[in-house]
Amino acid sequence: MKYNNEINKRKTFAIISHPDAGKTTLTEKFLLFGGAIQTAGAVKSNKIKKHATSDFMEIERQRGISVATSVMSFEYKGMLINLLDTPGHKDFAEDTYRTLTAVDSVILVVDSVNGVEAQTRRLMEVCRMRDTPVIVFINKMNRDGKNRFDLLEEIEKELNIALHPMTWPINSGKDFKGVYNLYDKNLVLFTANTKAADEDTISFDRLDVPALDEKLGEKDAATLREDIELVDGVHGELNVEDYLAGKVAPVFFGSAINNFGVREMLDTFIRIAPTPRSRETSTRHLDVEEDKFSGFIFKIHANLDPKHRDRIAFLRVCSGKFERNKYFHHVRLDKEVRFSNPYTFLARDKDVIDEAFPGDVVGLFDTGNFKIGDTLTEGEDFYFTGIPSFSPEIFKEVVNKDPMKTKQLEKGLLQLTDEGVAQLFTQYGGNKKIIGCVCELQFEVIQYRLLHEYWASVQFNALPFYKACWITSKDPKKLDEFTRFKHANIAEDKDGYLVYLAQSEWFLNTERTNNPDIEFHFTSEIHK
Ligand code: G4P
Repeated sequence: MKYNNEINKRKTFAIISHPDAGKTTLTEKFLLFGGAIQTAGAVKSNKIKKHATSDFMEIERQRGISVATSVMSFEYKGMLINLLDTPGHKDFAEDTYRTLTAVDSVILVVDSVNGVEAQTRRLMEVCRMRDTPVIVFINKMNRDGKNRFDLLEEIEKELNIALHPMTWPINSGKDFKGVYNLYDKNLVLFTANTKAADEDTISFDRLDVPALDEKLGEKDAATLREDIELVDGVHGELNVEDYLAGKVAPVFFGSAINNFGVREMLDTFIRIAPTPRSRETSTRHLDVEEDKFSGFIFKIHANLDPKHRDRIAFLRVCSGKFERNKYFHHVRLDKEVRFSNPYTFLARDKDVIDEAFPGDVVGLFDTGNFKIGDTLTEGEDFYFTGIPSFSPEIFKEVVNKDPMKTKQLEKGLLQLTDEGVAQLFTQYGGNKKIIGCVCELQFEVIQYRLLHEYWASVQFNALPFYKACWITSKDPKKLDEFTRFKHANIAEDKDGYLVYLAQSEWFLNTERTNNPDIEFHFTSEIHK
């Protein structure tokens, strides 16, 4: 209970979106509100150029900067907000998903023109698995977008979550006039590129007043009245408990580039988003208010430059106080470790910190001691649960081009996959090594790093699989039979758990139907 004051002022979240929906722009507006940056464009310049060549070195060049923006902390209305970046574009990797295990809530940005897109769907699946509270920001209302009702229906259906409009738009595109705030009961008129000034916000306790027609014109005022009656009738008041349980997502409409609708959302976020939450561990429920320190590693960032072989492990503090130079217990290695230069991530700089509290993310210099999911405590042995591995989507066989370097290759593969950007599988009953990733680019990175860091030269051969499903069964005999019968499609993950490599959804469904005693899982807990 010692640290309740610190806990209650923190909110740790991530913004997720499909590339180009406006995540960077929105992040920048948040940082401007929080005073963490002074000028527009400061975040933008850190972004990986969309038209960059597929050359991953270009991405790596940007990674040095992107590590600094991995976590952005800012203060707003007395709260300390930690915003964790979820990289998109070409550097989208499995660890993007895992960042979501380190946040307490998310803001999802949807482009009003394009609606829900693939990447969003996958990220939201992770949120659904964890019942993470979600706020939705429908961006680019200044462009001619989809019909607002259709859009809401699409999002609800695609993302499998109930929506609750908090603001309601008046038209879109060049006719976009602003939003009606259903919570504050006021009309916020759209002005491009300013923080909504007071004179642009007009309170309307009731909408059946002539003043509304004066402001919006008869037609738009009538449509708004109809819309609001419908929306109010269907949704009523937001039940914050439902939001916190991940059942209902409040929705805001706006235009990030014009800084419109952003403050309304941020103010609501501050009001309702959860402070750091308690977590489950392998042995017991861990209350966030416990005095003793605990935390886990959710991401490892390696430097590709062989001259600077340092890695940075990202630690999420889950309880108690993290302190510089204090010994903590590394559960997996059963070893006491301390950190003389832990750092915090501010929008511009990396600063060495002396202490950190639940919700905070600390960067630890690592020389190879950490794996994703590792836990640090003040002595107790447990792991945090709910940190999954997800099925990769592209699979390639590793072909060793230099048999003299077999040992180095094995070591390199183990270490690189410990960082969590790719998964390593071994063919069942054989020793063919298979790498699985969610993004093509990771293969280039792995090939380059194996050569430059481990002197191992490899080639990748594409394999015709689309998913790896972890298989289990209550009946060990049935599992054994299935494994032997389907051995060409079976592999073991790094911890020796069996996976079925499916060529297509059709194959997978067929196996499911034919083998009712076998369970197929798209995710696997790192600590079982
Ligand atoms: P991302 O991080 O999700 O990939 O998206 P980002 O913020 O970079 O936004 C993608 C593009 O959408 C950018 O344009 C950005 O200016 C634009 N954008 C963001 N918010 C809005 C909005 O409310 N309305 C409209 N119409 N556009 C918006 P770009 O041309 O790709 O980049 P830039 O030349 O503006 O830098």
